[in-house]
Amino acid sequence: MNVGILGTGKLAVTLGRAWAAAGHSLSVAGRNPLHAGGAVQQIGPAAEAVDPADLATRVDVLVIAVAWEGLEAALSLVGGPQGALAGKTVIDCTNPVDYTTGALKPVSGSAAALVAHTAPGAHVVKALHLFAGASWPYVGPQELAPVVAICGDEPGALDRAAALIQDLGGQTAVVGGLSGARQLEEAAGFVMRVVAAGYNPRLAVPDVDPALLRAAETTTG
Ligand SMILES: NC(=O)c1ccc[n+]([C@@H]2O[C@H](COP(=O)([O-])OP(=O)(O)OC[C@H]3O[C@@H](n4cnc5c(N)ncnc54)[C@H](OP(=O)(O)O)[C@@H]3O)[C@@H](O)[C@H]2O)c1
Repeated sequence: MNVGILGTGKLAVTLGRAWAAAGHSLSVAGRNPLHAGGAVQQIGPAAEAVDPADLATRVDVLVIAVAWEGLEAALSLVGGPQGALAGKTVIDCTNPVDYTTGALKPVSGSAAALVAHTAPGAHVVKALHLFAGASWPYVGPQELAPVVAICGDEPGALDRAAALIQDLGGQTAVVGGLSGARQLEEAAGFVMRVVAAGYNPRLAVPDVDPALLRAAETTTG
């Protein structure tokens, strides 16, 4: 795939490197061409810095990796409000969360809903916001691969997101439509709150084996 990355910071570089290693081409754009050039240098030869105005036409999938505060401005740079992303798969990785406390930043609906509103016609998927970029690529036993919970309304867009997650080494759990994005974003806030309290969030959720749960339900039901 030709993957567009809107954003030139840490997440853009770590995802870009992992997807480049998996054989994808990357087009990278941001508000600062120098930062886009720097990100491309770090990703390697599979990546190209492009003018934000050209990004939408060049890519199969657009991944949004900008600071939450810059979300609307960044979408404007690529022509989102003018319909440039209509029909495109757009993966929203942003976190409207204060990283130091886990507090959610004020947003009407969800960040992903704001993307859908600001880029009319885009096939928005909320994904890849919860795990640190440095988690990717995952190399290890498949049964222990990170499970990336995603949501969206368009099956083709969910499939494309799942394919990119697979190329990072992750597993994908589709948990519903885009109306569920706020819950996924709140999960990031929850993780940060547990971290701020001094604990490992991996130990703050129950260990539930769905197969055992179903078997128990069958027995009792
Ligand atoms: N880092 C991670 O591991 C990780 C993991 C999951 C999700 N996320 C989420 O991914 C997003 C990016 O995180 P990051 O760690 O890559 O942050 P970062 O390194 O600070 O990079 C932020 C990016 O957002 C751009 N930006 C900021 N304000 C903007 C504005 N007003 N208009 C246009 N662009 C703007 C920055 O451009 P300039 O360079 O010009 O300032 C930069 O390209 C955040 O929403 C974060 O919550 C990060």
